Amino acid sequence: MHFSASFLPSLVLAASLVAAQAVPKHNYTCTSFMVKVPVSNVTVIVPPFPELPNQYAATSLANQITIRTPSSPEVNLTTLTRTFNISAEYCTPAKSGPRASTLQILSHGLGFNRSYWDFYLHSKRNDAQYSYVNSATGAGYSTLSYNRLGIEPSTIADPYREIQALVEVAVLAGLTTLVRAGNITQVPVPQKVIHISVGLAAVAPGLSDGIVLTGYSALSQYTAFFIANTAFHLANQNQPKRFPPSKYSSGFLTWPDKFGNQFSFLEYPYFDPAVLDRAEATKYPFTVGEFISASAVPVAAPNFPGPVLYLAAQSDLIFCASNCTGLFGPDSVAVQGFNGSSSVETYIQPNVGHGINLHHNATGAYNVIMDWAERHGF
Ligand SMILES: *[C@@H]1O[C@H](CO)[C@@H](O)[C@H](O)[C@H]1NC(C)=O
Ligand SMILES: *[C@@H]1O[C@H](CO)[C@@H](O)[C@H](O)[C@H]1NC(C)=O
Ligand SMILES: *[C@@H]1O[C@H](CO)[C@@H](O)[C@H](O)[C@H]1NC(C)=O
Ligand SMILES: *[C@@H]1O[C@H](CO)[C@@H](O)[C@H](O)[C@H]1NC(C)=O
Ligand SMILES: *[C@@H]1O[C@H](CO)[C@@H](O)[C@H](O)[C@H]1NC(C)=O
Ligand SMILES: *[C@@H]1O[C@H](CO)[C@@H](O)[C@H](O)[C@H]1NC(C)=O
Ligand SMILES: *[C@@H]1O[C@H](CO)[C@@H](O)[C@H](O)[C@H]1NC(C)=O
Ligand SMILES: *[C@@H]1O[C@H](CO)[C@@H](O)[C@H](O)[C@H]1NC(C)=O
Ligand SMILES: *[C@@H]1O[C@H](CO)[C@@H](O)[C@H](O)[C@H]1NC(C)=O
Repeated sequence: MHFSASFLPSLVLAASLVAAQAVPKHNYTCTSFMVKVPVSNVTVIVPPFPELPNQYAATSLANQITIRTPSSPEVNLTTLTRTFNISAEYCTPAKSGPRASTLQILSHGLGFNRSYWDFYLHSKRNDAQYSYVNSATGAGYSTLSYNRLGIEPSTIADPYREIQALVEVAVLAGLTTLVRAGNITQVPVPQKVIHISVGLAAVAPGLSDGIVLTGYSALSQYTAFFIANTAFHLANQNQPKRFPPSKYSSGFLTWPDKFGNQFSFLEYPYFDPAVLDRAEATKYPFTVGEFISASAVPVAAPNFPGPVLYLAAQSDLIFCASNCTGLFGPDSVAVQGFNGSSSVETYIQPNVGHGINLHHNATGAYNVIMDWAERHGF
């Protein structure tokens, strides 16, 4: 295995405090569509407690999950076979070159929809500085982003029994299988597929040619800070207009307000407060099922042969307790998890929190990914 690391550049001072220059939109076309994605015989956990009756019970669950003395109660497992609707968008450069046959499949994280990869401020519709899709298509690649299970208009499935970690990995595997088989009419069959996501390489190593893990360290202990920060606010009480109780049961959760959002996702002063306001106004819930099943996704993918890039966020609260420096060395869990890979590169992006795309220097991070992709022949 080839291992290389790049460490932090020396502290960047005044320059990072001012907003980045506006980024022009590249010329590319996008198509949005719904695709039916089947999942078959996926292992799910039967929740070992009844549905949360109210906010007090939800907040108490956050205490129990983050307790100093965790117990691992016996849980019952079952399986899920179902077809979900998944809302997706395919984008490709107007002028197609050789790289357009590499498809980057983009999975968003908790709290967002696929607009995380194509983020704009209302007041700056022509400034693409927060759009990964714009950067990737500008570099010649095609992209496929999708709303995860539970994020409308993708199916709002059961947040206790269905919207669980292994099901989400199965949805990504199912979507990729459909793409590779040429069974999504809007998406030409790609020659190579890069996944920007977590978990798939372990479960289905044959589906990816390359993996980029952004804002991820393979360490789960620091997610307790995220859980504590959210106190498991019920989404249907926090933003009842967007998440009415008739559609969003007590299994859908969120953090309390924009400062909770900042605490988990952003590093001050490296973001525009207007970006935080928009991210909070347009946030999406996560689910109880995602937390009871998080540890079911393996962090090691020893059978994945292709190249891997870790793009860590220097001040990632969720995966590094706000300091990723030192967690990506040759012996780290992150690097060792890909011990069958042709190449594992690690890079710590300076002056960003977990929500890398929402910071002033988002395009700097995008360039790191495009450079990696080009160097590996994608
Ligand atoms: C479903 O998965 C279980 C274990 O994961 C396996 O034992 C069983 O054979 C599978 N059933 C089908 C129909 O694939
Ligand atoms: C597991 O299933 C058994 C049999 O249905 C049931 O008695 C038990 O309460 C279940 N345990 C949990 C933790 O769900
Ligand atoms: C974008 O590309 C299309 C197809 O090549 C071309 O017709 C169009 O003029 C281009 N638009 C701009 C603004 O460059
Ligand atoms: C998928 O979408 C179709 C058409 O809009 C709808 O009839 C069906 O109920 C949806 N299925 C799921 C599982 O969401
Ligand atoms: C793709 O579609 C063909 C024809 O409908 C079908 O036979 C095949 O099983 C599908 N493949 C996948 C992966 O869904
Ligand atoms: C994503 O969320 C934004 C903000 O709520 C919304 O404007 C956009 O329509 C959503 N897109 C999809 C595909 O769900
Ligand atoms: C982050 O951790 C590294 C390694 O332990 C340390 O050198 C550095 O000072 C820490 N950064 C901050 C901001 O505390
Ligand atoms: C790679 O890691 C796996 C565990 O994930 C281990 O079983 C295997 O022995 C390791 N292989 C090498 C060559 O170190
Ligand atoms: C922006 O990101 C790039 C790539 O990581 C980095 O080289 C550069 O120093 C960053 N600029 C600032 C101002 O943080």
